[in-house]
Amino acid sequence: MTRIIETIEEMREWSASLRAEGKTIGYVPTMGYLHEGHLALVAEAHRVSDVVVMSIFVNPTQFGPNEDFDSYPRDLPRDAALAADAGVDCIFAPSTEEMYPADGGIRIVPGPIAQQMCGASRPTHFDGVLQVLLKLFNIVSPTDAFFGLKDAQQVAVVETFVRDFNVPVRIHRVPIVRERDGLAKSSRNVHLTEQERKEAPAIYRALQAGKEALETGMSPHEVKRQVATEIERDTSGTIDYVELLDYPSLGEPTEDRERILACAVQFPTVRLIDNVIIKGSEQR
Ligand code: PAJ
Repeated sequence: MTRIIETIEEMREWSASLRAEGKTIGYVPTMGYLHEGHLALVAEAHRVSDVVVMSIFVNPTQFGPNEDFDSYPRDLPRDAALAADAGVDCIFAPSTEEMYPADGGIRIVPGPIAQQMCGASRPTHFDGVLQVLLKLFNIVSPTDAFFGLKDAQQVAVVETFVRDFNVPVRIHRVPIVRERDGLAKSSRNVHLTEQERKEAPAIYRALQAGKEALETGMSPHEVKRQVATEIERDTSGTIDYVELLDYPSLGEPTEDRERILACAVQFPTVRLIDNVIIKGSEQR
């Protein structure tokens, strides 16, 4: 039976009682409208921990003023059924009032790692992500937390935050789950028109071709240009960015270290992100 908890107090008590029994708590933070990507995090959480908690909370503070907070897909009954099937022990689904009863005006301001890629066009996005995650970590008190590489910059920012602020939680990375045609699964995919959905797999195709070109010696600059050209040719979306950076530092890329080739593509109502990781020559 999956237990659904809506208050901070009850979540804290449940978590404290499990910790007192010596159990490890694996935590999967989400904004709901679950798909196999989220469920892959649950599977990994089960592998590593005694008990699995998932939060479902569409966090207003990580959306910009003109972004899709209001239209973000929500369906708690459907999510609860999927989570129960996946063996989630507890869903924490607080209301916005429960999470943000008052704003004392204090913010977490991440450094340069949060300013490029998605941070360039969503300048306060990662402030909001870290704000809600610190709150959620303090409420759920997990031993381990699971994040998908679909949001690779988020993983990098969260790992850096946890390290720099000694947050007592182990962060685990989980690979991207894709549709059969390569499109990275995302709650936002439901908002693609039929035509956009047909075009969208071109994003991953372009990234993969870019990765191959890089591995066979094309310059980073040329690779980025090729990826952008292919996406512009094959989709009606507009390129927000194509980046090639060191991963996870998001600093200058070098051939010997792991790199990320990532992009964001804006369609009229949906912004899609995707990435591929390229192993460094030291790791091959
Ligand atoms: P959300 O977009 O719901 O994603 C929750 C988690 O699922 C994230 O760690 C994300 O990377 C992972 N995920 C989404 N699609 C995936 C896919 N196709 N393959 C693998 N993992 C995937 O990310 C957020 O919510 C929020 O920013 C949150 C961390 C909950 C803070 O509000």
